[in-house]
Amino acid sequence: MKAIVMTGLGGPEVIEYVERPDPVPGPDEVLVEVAVAGVNFMDIGVRQGMAWNETPNPKILGVEGAGKVVAVGEEVDDLRLGQRVAWIYVPGSYAEKIVAPASAFVPLPDEIDDRTAASVMMQGLTASHFGTDFYPVRPGDIALVHAAAGGVGLLLTQIIKLRGGHVIGRVSSSDKIAAAKEAGADHVIVDTEGQFVEEAVRLSGGDGVHVVYDGSGPKTFQGSLDALRRSGTFCWYGPVLGGPGPLDIMSLPKSIKIGYAVVFDHIHTPELLRARSAQLFEWIIEGRLKVRVGGEYPLAHAVKAQVDMESRATTGKLLLVP
Ligand SMILES: NC(=O)c1ccc[n+]([C@@H]2O[C@H](COP(=O)([O-])OP(=O)(O)OC[C@H]3O[C@@H](n4cnc5c(N)ncnc54)[C@H](OP(=O)(O)O)[C@@H]3O)[C@@H](O)[C@H]2O)c1
Repeated sequence: MKAIVMTGLGGPEVIEYVERPDPVPGPDEVLVEVAVAGVNFMDIGVRQGMAWNETPNPKILGVEGAGKVVAVGEEVDDLRLGQRVAWIYVPGSYAEKIVAPASAFVPLPDEIDDRTAASVMMQGLTASHFGTDFYPVRPGDIALVHAAAGGVGLLLTQIIKLRGGHVIGRVSSSDKIAAAKEAGADHVIVDTEGQFVEEAVRLSGGDGVHVVYDGSGPKTFQGSLDALRRSGTFCWYGPVLGGPGPLDIMSLPKSIKIGYAVVFDHIHTPELLRARSAQLFEWIIEGRLKVRVGGEYPLAHAVKAQVDMESRATTGKLLLVP
């Protein structure tokens, strides 16, 4: 099969399109033909050495996708040949085929096509974690959403809106305003220098926002703290773009809640993974959650997809098609 591997740590130059033997399923595993693989910022972090270093290089990149079961191990009784499935956190997804325990896969309803499924497993479940679990948004809450036109940002904006919240989005260029507004953002601030605080506080009636969702690196951190209202919540989630460094708890605004939200804690059992995915699929089928595919690339062009994502020019989800 064809696959995209990283040969070592570094920039796009460590990525190669290669031939690899087809994986073979063990007794509790299934083999899936990948229809679409999702591109995530996390893949760039892996390439740079931020995670998943225990697996030696060269290794196949990617952790998300959708496809069709083509072989099942003898102990598997809940998935069948030909069934359509999707997944998150299955390393080796930038490939024509992937193998993993059956419990890692989520069966897809007929109404959810492969592209939609591969677009929401990582970024949709992450947005669902942030908006319904880490800080369950209440009607009337005002949220500040960074990178509001990105993959997580567009889905998070919609989830906040469907829970009755208001959204102030922050994006890096005016080209992204329309996408953020289409997702439901009430206001969009264009900024790359951490200069969004005054406007966010003004737009929230002078009190600051109830919750800030920030995965945008050190440049936005202090501003996000300053934009919070009394007893507000800071959902931090951006390990790839970097954190604020060690925090002195006494120097933080008093009585705020702050934490590092990680999607895995939303789906840490196979039952939760299937239940949370089913909720996303239901919202999509009802037309309450819409997926925006911002770019689709042949598998062989994975380098271009990652370079585009790092350039800050993309909106929505980027997909690879084997
Ligand atoms: N904690 C978790 O569980 C979890 C799970 C999934 C994703 N994430 C994180 O969520 C963030 C978004 O991930 P995604 O896959 O949905 O990607 P994405 O939002 O589609 O793309 C990343 C966004 O970050 C901004 N950006 C890109 N390069 C940047 C740079 N050099 N400096 C500052 N901002 C930059 C861009 O927004 P602007 O240009 O508009 O600012 C871009 O929209 C990433 O930080 C990722 O690591 C965390």
